[in-house]
Amino acid sequence: MIHFPSFGLGCQHRESKVQTPTTVTQDEQKQLVAREALRYVVEDAWLGVGSGSTANMFIDALAASRLRIKGAVASSVKTAERLKAHRIDVEELNNVSDIPVYIDGADEVTAAGAMIKGGGGALTREKIVAAAAQKFVCIADQSKKVDVLGKFPLPVEVIPMARSYVARELVRLGGYPQWRMGFTTDNGNVILDVSDLAIRNPVALEDRINAIAGVVTVGLFARRGADVILLGTAQGMETITPHR
Ligand code: 5RP
Repeated sequence: MIHFPSFGLGCQHRESKVQTPTTVTQDEQKQLVAREALRYVVEDAWLGVGSGSTANMFIDALAASRLRIKGAVASSVKTAERLKAHRIDVEELNNVSDIPVYIDGADEVTAAGAMIKGGGGALTREKIVAAAAQKFVCIADQSKKVDVLGKFPLPVEVIPMARSYVARELVRLGGYPQWRMGFTTDNGNVILDVSDLAIRNPVALEDRINAIAGVVTVGLFARRGADVILLGTAQGMETITPHR
């Protein structure tokens, strides 16, 4: 294994890479970052845990590790169920005041740490637990790393009665919203997936969409982005530390 630091030109972030000799598949990349994330777990403290396939691999790795945590705060019902199946204690956020670390995947992430999340529909609880945590560790395979957010349709959680109104407002912003039919969030709401947005100013768009009446949360995580990105690549592990 070769460890070498590299500094991106014109980018406000630091990178370190670990090279492995053979090509690493997408699933192996997810496994790699899930295991690497164990290094960020603070023992004897609460841990915020995200949702999705990469977060699931992290939960499995955590269960197999000897790490001792006070318990987990889950970002979705599915995550809580998986944690409990591994006999990891799950606590309500309302009963927890200090979460040193939150570990979660992403649908897209930039080197600056801005993300699109919510492909699994858990964006609102993910945003809440992330906001309550001191450090966000994003775990993702290399297909998630982008220069500009927006190729992945941007999920927006919406109060059901506001669906059509919010959709019209999203069209006014240049997007193409589609109702995620047959899906209800853990909070009893609906999701609009918005395509055709080239998100050059994620913080401004996050604020703009969150200000639409009826929007519960937009799946843009720019105001509270990732503090560390663990990226699985075809060559191995890459750690990116965005500077904001
Ligand atoms: C769920 C999420 C997930 O983190 C995101 O969809 C990535 O999932 P996966 O790890 O399965 O690629 O935001 O709401």
